[in-house]
Amino acid sequence: MYGNAQENAQDLNVQELAASFDLEKLTSDFYVNPYPTYRALRETAPVKRMPNGSYFLTRYDDLVTAYKNTKAFSSDKKKEFAPKYGASLLYEHHTTSLVFNDPPIHTRVRRLIMGALSPRAIAEMEGDLIRLVDHLLDRISTRSEFDLINDFAAAIPIEVIGNLLGVPHEEREPLRDWSLAILGALEPVIGDLEALVERRRAKPGNPERDVLTRLIQGEADGEKLTAKELLHNCIFLLNAGHETTTNLIGNGLVTLSEQAGEKERLIAHPEMIKTAVEEMLRYESSNQLGNRMTVQPIELGGLALPAGTPITLCIGAANRDPAQFPDPEKFDIGRTPNRHLAFATGAHQCAGMALARLEGAIAISRFLARFPNYAINGEPVRGGRVRFRGFLSVPCVTGA
Ligand code: HEM
Repeated sequence: MYGNAQENAQDLNVQELAASFDLEKLTSDFYVNPYPTYRALRETAPVKRMPNGSYFLTRYDDLVTAYKNTKAFSSDKKKEFAPKYGASLLYEHHTTSLVFNDPPIHTRVRRLIMGALSPRAIAEMEGDLIRLVDHLLDRISTRSEFDLINDFAAAIPIEVIGNLLGVPHEEREPLRDWSLAILGALEPVIGDLEALVERRRAKPGNPERDVLTRLIQGEADGEKLTAKELLHNCIFLLNAGHETTTNLIGNGLVTLSEQAGEKERLIAHPEMIKTAVEEMLRYESSNQLGNRMTVQPIELGGLALPAGTPITLCIGAANRDPAQFPDPEKFDIGRTPNRHLAFATGAHQCAGMALARLEGAIAISRFLARFPNYAINGEPVRGGRVRFRGFLSVPCVTGA
């Protein structure tokens, strides 16, 4: 009897959570823990209409369908952003970066960027990355208290992207602020990056290692980016690779500190770092939402969606879909297979995922080896955004 009453109450709660969900009106509880809502949506309204007419997708299989069908689900933002931003630099930026374009522009730009992020180029970064991480750990070890985000997680990707684009060390200070402020203030970035591009044009670096030189010189068949495409895609790289990777490292170490058993398991078995990083990406995906627009009528989850329907793809929900992941609410650093969608899939799958994985593995494994007894000793501050899930600050003690 009692069990039934409890189940009924839970059912009601699930219905209510799904029915009241509006991406434009989120509660503070949601920001702390969106997963009960995502679960309710997956179970009762997996293709959920939002009051603004867009649709919110939470099932793994539906996300894969949308990511893989680029003919029906477009990434091109020109129509959507033109009325929003007018003829501004912001409009120019968002409509020129590869992530918001369909073929043929997307195919051409992606080929050039993938060439610059080749496995060989990434393997060459490993030594610098280890030195950088160890240097940060040395600095932390001189103090008993530190901030996991500012003193560690955020300091890594900004240096890596700086190396990738060949930004001189003395000019890196503002990179993080630019990246965080990119939506509000593009102008200074354009000016300074333009100067950097001009210098590199006059004095090319090694195209095997230096992405900027590689992008300027283009492919052997003469395919090149225009000056504008080059600038906007460099800004996009700076943005794409910064906050997401900071959040992978930050979320990963916070999750481990909350899950003592899995933390001990990883300390005892450092060779599990690869599957552990995949599980961190799945369990607390740093990029929780993606967007597409239907460009032809399509049926999804039994609903007929007309062309021109904006779609939100909820990676955070799909990555906990029990139809794909057994016991999905469990954090299991040995989980295999783990075909999560943290980097999306299909034509736009993250171009920097090999680099992000390398950064995550080196940062987290070396941190754990150095400070196995680290602990959070204050109130972590969340970034307060639904798309990018992570922390602005996490006060910690080294425990050493
Ligand atoms: C944990 C870290 C990261 C996560 C979770 C992540 C996630 C994603 C996701 C979900 C997309 C697909 C966007 C869409 O089409 O809707 C994407 C695209 C992209 N990412 Fe990442 N990313 C990460 C790190 C990086 C890094 C380090 C770089 C580069 C240095 C990078 C470069 C890119 C680029 C260039 C694209 C666009 C690819 C395309 O449109 O073809 N990302 N990323």
